[in-house]
Amino acid sequence: MTNPVVVENATEILKAKIAQRQARIGIIGLGYVGLPLALLYSEERFAITGFDIDQKKVDTLNGDGSYIFRIQPEEIRVAKKSGFSATSNYSQIREMDAVIICVPTPLNEYHEPDLSYITRTAHAIAPHLRAGQLVVLESTTYPGTTEEVMVPILEQENPDGLKASRGAMLQPDEFLVAFSPEREDPGNTTVARRDIPKVVGGMSAPATEAACAMYGAIFARTVPVSSPAAAEMTKLLENIYRCVNIALVNELKLLSLRMGLDIWEVIDAASTKPFGFQAFYPGPGLGGHCIPVDPFYLAWKAKEWDFRTRFIELAGEINSNMPYHVLASVGAALNSRKKAVNGSRILVLGVAYKKDVDDLRESPALTIIELLQKDGALVSYHDPYFPFIGKGRKYDLQMKREELVGLGKYDCVLIVTNHSDYDYHLIVNEAQLVVDTRNATRGIDSPKIVRC
Ligand SMILES: NC(=O)c1ccc[n+]([C@@H]2O[C@H](COP(=O)([O-])OP(=O)(O)OC[C@H]3O[C@@H](n4cnc5c(N)ncnc54)[C@H](O)[C@@H]3O)[C@@H](O)[C@H]2O)c1
Repeated sequence: MTNPVVVENATEILKAKIAQRQARIGIIGLGYVGLPLALLYSEERFAITGFDIDQKKVDTLNGDGSYIFRIQPEEIRVAKKSGFSATSNYSQIREMDAVIICVPTPLNEYHEPDLSYITRTAHAIAPHLRAGQLVVLESTTYPGTTEEVMVPILEQENPDGLKASRGAMLQPDEFLVAFSPEREDPGNTTVARRDIPKVVGGMSAPATEAACAMYGAIFARTVPVSSPAAAEMTKLLENIYRCVNIALVNELKLLSLRMGLDIWEVIDAASTKPFGFQAFYPGPGLGGHCIPVDPFYLAWKAKEWDFRTRFIELAGEINSNMPYHVLASVGAALNSRKKAVNGSRILVLGVAYKKDVDDLRESPALTIIELLQKDGALVSYHDPYFPFIGKGRKYDLQMKREELVGLGKYDCVLIVTNHSDYDYHLIVNEAQLVVDTRNATRGIDSPKIVRC
């Protein structure tokens, strides 16, 4: 028979360790999500161990360096004073009181969820799992992943036969499991990360309680929900809401262009309504790890329930067509100057997937560059964050950044990402023709500008 008093204490002990900043927290996957999270905990005096299979990242961090533009090496040095270290050695998992998993969740070549990073992580953790440990998944994924995919691996492959806690009280042969979505908005400086409420769904009440205590140490507010699946679905709802609304304004932009209306003026005017309207902005196509990817996790899972997520499919169709609209607009703008895309020199300004971030993933700029090259354009690019574009999962461009001088030599300057660093007046002055996909040249009146 288990002793509930002793066991209840196990959750209380973990909570006390968190309160006293003595809990050892391991963060698996030190990318755009995991590394800033590790630093937040370090700021709160937790000794964090970061795990990553990328030895280069581990060595960079242990050598006081950083590989994320907005994280200065000084921040890594300060974190190390609070006990931060990085490793690729999973045996250290055993020393952790809690483990947070922040590994990638991309789509595979068939546009289906690729959970291989999560399953590989679960296989790697399982041999080192111990009773009472808290395991939290943060990677964005479809409802059911935590309980249907991750937990079975942890339960089957840990050497002590431990089970995930499912009851009202933690048993001595159990570990705690929760899902808590990451909600960071890279480049958004209007909300501090600690002020973004943290949604937490545990597999049991003790799991939710322990995870809320852990996140409560660095987030101003935690929002407990009834299950990991509810937390998984919450994140997808948020991202699908963005994806569908962006598709809506993209479609209305196409119509507005045809009707001779300025969609940005219309959005600004609609935004003055104090209720019931939230502004979304059109662009050259979706980018980033989340919005173009996450909705398809749900669309895939829905099929298991014999359900078609039509909003997601329609939004995907409209958004993925936007780079083709940009291509057609460049073609039309050049045509009006008696030029063809074929043979024209085109400078793409901004290749990051959105303004002021050093992230290229799924950036529409990459598709646009490929489409222009296919039509015979001589394409160059500039982006303050990327001196070189090499090979990614879906592209292999091998391009070197051009200097931002002598813009007059290009037949067209194409603004794909509206970084704040650019001087748009200067760009318009120097260029022969500017095609602007982001309304970056707002307020500048020139016949050289084509807004599309
Ligand atoms: N980037 C964002 O703004 C953002 C926002 C919200 C949610 N998310 C979600 O968070 C998750 C992580 O995203 P990211 O942007 O940090 O990805 P990332 O690619 O920047 O980082 C992931 C890290 O995990 C490491 N990794 C992969 N497999 C591993 C393993 N088996 N063990 C240890 N490390 C491993 C990689 O080497 C990499 O350093 C994804 O599910 C993403 O959808 C990202």
